[in-house]
Amino acid sequence: MIWIKGGWILDPSDNTDELGDILIKDGKIAARGIFSQATAESYGEDIQVIDASGKKIMPGLVDLHVHFREPGFEYKETIKTGASAAAKGGFTGVCPMPNTKPAVDSPEMIQKILDIAEKDSPIHIYPVGAITKGQMGDELVDIKGMAEAGAKAFSEDGKSVMNAEIYREAMKIAAEIDVPIMAHCEDKNMVGQGAMNEGAKSRELGIPGISNAVEDVIVARDILIAKDTGARLHLCHCSTEDSVKMIRCARKDGVKVSGEVCPHHFTLTDQDIVEDDANYKMNPPLRSRDDVEALKRGLGDGTMEAISTDHAPHSEEEKSVSIKNAPFGIVGSETAFCLGVTELVESGILTPLELVRRMSTNPCRILGVEGGSLQKGSVADIAIADFDEEYVIDKTEFLSKGKNTPFDGKKVKGRIYTTIVEGKVVYSL
Ligand code: DOR
Ligand code: ZN
Ligand code: ZN
Repeated sequence: MIWIKGGWILDPSDNTDELGDILIKDGKIAARGIFSQATAESYGEDIQVIDASGKKIMPGLVDLHVHFREPGFEYKETIKTGASAAAKGGFTGVCPMPNTKPAVDSPEMIQKILDIAEKDSPIHIYPVGAITKGQMGDELVDIKGMAEAGAKAFSEDGKSVMNAEIYREAMKIAAEIDVPIMAHCEDKNMVGQGAMNEGAKSRELGIPGISNAVEDVIVARDILIAKDTGARLHLCHCSTEDSVKMIRCARKDGVKVSGEVCPHHFTLTDQDIVEDDANYKMNPPLRSRDDVEALKRGLGDGTMEAISTDHAPHSEEEKSVSIKNAPFGIVGSETAFCLGVTELVESGILTPLELVRRMSTNPCRILGVEGGSLQKGSVADIAIADFDEEYVIDKTEFLSKGKNTPFDGKKVKGRIYTTIVEGKVVYSL
């Protein structure tokens, strides 16, 4: 058994924010409180003590949005390397998106991902299935069969299903079996060759722009289809002020919609792109100061329920070209927690407890998986972190194969020390 001793417990599931210990036995949280040696021993003799003094103990973080590239693009990332990077980032569970080669579009492919995960991943892998065959946009996958095989959600991530009637059909089935649809909102016909946010900066750099409307029109459409079908809709990587407004409004109306914000979208604006550097290229792009402020307000007031990374590794070579030609995406697993602490907690937008709610408890609820709680009897998925430690992000230390980050050299606060999955230490600094 494990005795996590003398830490500060942050448990959003029952709003616990106090000093305490945790005892782990048989993969579960056996007790929470402050224990003497004798009490701890009464739970079992073979005790491994983890000293958490000066640190915070939280339920393991869960990332609703990663790209692990296996099968097909293993030179960018594998389930093994992606899961190790996630564990280092404090994540005990992740949702790999289906835009692999081939796409994850059948029960067999879901099984294949789970088989690799079983062998290679120290953390929970919650596979996300594609919505159409080959993500080609015209023929629905076997949603029920894939859910039975273990798909936890469905998404066409990388693009939107542009045919609204096919999408509506998918949402009807998803509603029937109560699995969430995760939406990448981007109007394919409006985006053209766009490679960064449309505005003064894109004109200055001579790079084709992506307007906010490219995202907003699909957010509006998807919310209306969710309202029509009763499906649970989760909006991925929201980047615009109007996305936040529409989610706020739809939630008031009782639509089952949730939204996520990625750390890069609350940390940087398009003005931070000082030269043509593809490590600042992702989809949706870095937006304006007004958008960033709206995303932060949305996180602060609870409209935006989740923080997820859209961890999108690419090779050094692929990212060494102009923003115009490079693939979209940056890595995020190993910088999400510290950016949350630095940009949201330090600035007073979120308390440490609320940051953990958006990175653990809410993602678990949205996905319908266990975790996100440190209450007695919960699965022992736990992260231990120092919220006050300052350091400089060094991409050469990443366990991910992807080093494509705009945050190399950034001074941050907040470091993960230990990650525990089902009572087993899977990462320790
Ligand atoms: O930046 C992105 N990268 N956005 C996406 O939608 C896809 C992702 C990827 O797969 O690289
Ligand atoms: Zn996406
Ligand atoms: Zn993505």
